[in-house]
Amino acid sequence: MKIENAVALVTGSNRGIGKSIVEALSKRGVKKVFAAMRVTETFRNNNSTCLEKLGRTVELVSLDITKKDQIELAVQKAEGVNVLINNAGIANYSGLIAEDNLDSARQEMEVNYFGTLEMIRAFAPVLKKNGGGSIVNILSVASLVNFPILGSYSASKAALSSLTQGVRAELASQETKVIGIYPGPIDTDMAKGIEMEKGAPEETAEGILDAIEGEKEDVFIDQMAVQLYDDYRNDPKAVEKQCGEMLPQSVG
Ligand SMILES: NC(=O)c1ccc[n+]([C@@H]2O[C@H](COP(=O)([O-])OP(=O)(O)OC[C@H]3O[C@@H](n4cnc5c(N)ncnc54)[C@H](OP(=O)(O)O)[C@@H]3O)[C@@H](O)[C@H]2O)c1
Repeated sequence: MKIENAVALVTGSNRGIGKSIVEALSKRGVKKVFAAMRVTETFRNNNSTCLEKLGRTVELVSLDITKKDQIELAVQKAEGVNVLINNAGIANYSGLIAEDNLDSARQEMEVNYFGTLEMIRAFAPVLKKNGGGSIVNILSVASLVNFPILGSYSASKAALSSLTQGVRAELASQETKVIGIYPGPIDTDMAKGIEMEKGAPEETAEGILDAIEGEKEDVFIDQMAVQLYDDYRNDPKAVEKQCGEMLPQSVG
C-alpha cells in the first residue's frame, strides 16, 4: 500500500524510533498521523518547532497502551486509520533468574506483549472498515534468540513475534497486512548502555515505510539485524551460544 494519503497511528511516538517514524510518514505525504504517546503536554512544550514544521498532518493522542480505556478513546479519536504502527516498548535490562521477583518480567510482558495485543484487537475493526490496511509490530533481533542481558525483554519480544504470525493469519481474510520489524541495536534511549555499532532511528523509520509500501512480512533493516538473521538461519545454536557469551560483556 502507498504511504501517500494513508492515515497512520504510531504508538510511543514522542522519542526514539517512534518519533522518526512520524517524521518519515510526514515526509512521504501521509494524509494524517496520529502521534500517540503517554504524555502529550511535555512533547508539545519541547517540540514546538518540530510540530510547526510537521503542520496539521500530525495530531497528538494521549495513549498508554496498557490502559484499555485510553485505547478505546484513541479508537474513537483516530478516524480513518489504515496503518497501525505498534512501536511502544520497554526494556528493563533484567535477567530471568538474576531478579528478586517477576515484577520486571511482568511489566515487559504487559507493555510489549499484552499492550500491543490490546491495540491490535481494538484497531482490527477500524482497519477492516478502512480497506484492510497494515499493522506493523516493532519486534527485535531478541525475538529470534535470547540475549541474557535482557532475558525477560527477549522473552516478551519472542512472544510478540509469535503474536505477529498469529494475527497475520487471523486478519488475512480482512486483507490486513501484518509486518514484523526485527531491529538490531538502534541509537535511541533504549540502547544507550549498549557499546556496539548502532543503526540510526531515521534509517529504521524509512525501512519500516518501505516495508509497508512493499508489503513485506519479516523485515531486517540495520546491518546487525541483517547479519544476525543470516547467521541464525545458518546455525541457530551457534548464535544462541554467541549471544549468551558475548553480549553481557558489551553492555556498559
Ligand atoms: N533501540 C533499540 O536498540 C531497539 C532494538 C530493537 C527493538 N526496539 C524496539 O523499538 C521500539 C521503540 O524503541 P526505542 O528504541 O525508540 O526506545 P525508546 O527511545 O526507549 O522509546 C520507547 C517509546 O515507547 C514508549 N512507551 C513505553 N511504555 C509505553 C506504554 N505503556 N504506553 C505507550 N508508550 C509507551 C515510550 O514512552 P515514554 O517516553 O512515555 O516512556 C517511548 O516513546 C520498542 O518496541 C523497542 O523494543 C528497539
